[in-house]
Amino acid sequence: MSNTDHTNDYEGKFDGEWYLNTYYEPTLEILEEDVYLRFTLDSLHDAFRTVKLTGGRLLDVGTGPTLHSVISASQHVEEIFLSDYTDQNRIMLTDWWKSGARTQTGIMAYVLRKEQSIQTISTRLNDMRQKVQGILPVDVHLEQPLGTEYGSEYFDIVISSLCLEVASTSLDEYKKATGNVCSLIKPGGYFVLVGLCGQSFYKVGDSTFSSLPMELREVEDTLEILGNTLLSIRWIKTEYSELSDTKGAFVIVAQKSKS
Ligand SMILES: C[S@@+](CC[C@H](N)C(=O)[O-])C[C@H]1O[C@@H](n2cnc3c(N)ncnc32)[C@H](O)[C@@H]1O
Repeated sequence: MSNTDHTNDYEGKFDGEWYLNTYYEPTLEILEEDVYLRFTLDSLHDAFRTVKLTGGRLLDVGTGPTLHSVISASQHVEEIFLSDYTDQNRIMLTDWWKSGARTQTGIMAYVLRKEQSIQTISTRLNDMRQKVQGILPVDVHLEQPLGTEYGSEYFDIVISSLCLEVASTSLDEYKKATGNVCSLIKPGGYFVLVGLCGQSFYKVGDSTFSSLPMELREVEDTLEILGNTLLSIRWIKTEYSELSDTKGAFVIVAQKSKS
């Protein structure tokens, strides 16, 4: 497939229902076989348990329609802000926030088992819903990705999963977008970045979205040049799939410089 067939029309073509159902609604049994999901959920768990990230206010950038990136984090922060570029994804998140729609049961069960938690899925989901303070429009290409209301250095922790590389069409754009996102983190705060290497496309329903094929070294350099210290870097190779040409996935925990 040539790149001309690839789109980045998120408002027009990103089918959040399809995306959620296809990538993030596995049963617990199917999740056990999903190398990428297990890696991501385990790494997020470890980031908050082992690296002991903690803070008052957390932002997830480019949340999409899925909650998986903030399940572990929710136990270690007071306030959670979710964000996405598209109205449709924000509506899906708001449906969950306001009325408990879409529970991602397999993923929830996996994380609770990993934590050896005695909480039920519905108790954890209610906890998470109570901590959510807003579902915000975001554009990582803006110097102030959340607009002026949530200014710079507002968040103790920022998580972003599979957003920066799919929103960028060049390394230069990726670096600028990463800088814009980092500007939202307080000095000494943390950035948890989940990303993919070597991916030029991924599928969402009938659409094929473009992605910037990153190398891990380029991501590390980008974060370090912005003044972050890399606290933990985890990486896996990913298997061939018809849904994307991803070669690997990483989870990096970085700390923003204190000054
Ligand atoms: C591949 S999905 C990732 C969703 C979810 N975080 C995950 O880990 O599966 C990419 C998300 O980035 C969002 N996005 C696209 N362009 C963006 C931009 N310029 N700024 C912020 N988010 C953007 C899309 O709306 C979409 O929800």
